[in-house]
This record gives sequence, structure tokens and C-alpha cells, in this order.
Amino acid sequence: MELTHIEHLGIAVKSLEEAIPYYEQMLGLKCYSIEEVKDQKVKTAFFKIGQTKLELLESTDPEGTIAKFIEKRGEGVHHVAFATPSVKTCLTELEGKGVKLIDKEPRKGAEGLNIAFLHPKSTHGVLTEICEDPNKQ
Ligand code: CO
Repeated sequence: MELTHIEHLGIAVKSLEEAIPYYEQMLGLKCYSIEEVKDQKVKTAFFKIGQTKLELLESTDPEGTIAKFIEKRGEGVHHVAFATPSVKTCLTELEGKGVKLIDKEPRKGAEGLNIAFLHPKSTHGVLTEICEDPNKQ
């Protein structure tokens, strides 16, 4: 299994409108994309820092996973995403090693990436995403 770098950190925020100015004005990063991912019930905003991105996540539904996360734990780091050349290979290998998967098959995430989540019960509490950029193959 090959993980190449941290693709992004997912950060749960109550409001993109309120959080984006912090990253832009305080940290001097530039939001280069805002995208709604309907099946995950989120609106995302992306920043680049080196080859890693920050993915701010705002819930579009009070019953969505991000809304639930903020309700329980407040705003903050939600998940870590590792880049790999093949999500499919990773999933097969991890499942073989007994890691609990949230997604058994890769699905489409923001920015057209193929993504899958591992269950935090198997990852010492860190919701873990693995993702592959189909345009970089
Ligand atoms: Co993500």
C-alpha cells in the first residue's frame, strides 16, 4: 500500500462565510474553490498550503454528519486525508488487515477525487480518508 502525502485536512466549521475570512485575512491563504457535495450534505471551501489542502466543511443539513459532529464536539479538525495512487488497492489491503471501513468501494468526493473513509474505531479515533486523483494517473 502506498500513501504519498497528506492530501488535505478536513475541518468542520459552523459557517464558511465566517470561517473563510480567518484563513484569508489572518493566515493569508486564498480560497480557490467552493463546492457543494450533495450526497455528503456539505458545502466545502478549499485552500492550498504547499501540496496539502485544507477542506473547510459546512453542513447543509441539520441532520448531516458535519452538523452532528459540531453538535457533539464543536468546530475543529474532522478528518485527515491521505493521497494514494489507488484507493481500491488500499481498501482491499486494509480490509484484509482487519481495518473497519466506512466505504467498501471508492466513491466521488469533492474536486472529482475518488475517496473512501476508514472507521475511526479502527484508526485510534481519527476519521481517515484516502483519496486518489483520477487525473494524475
Ligand atoms: Co475530505
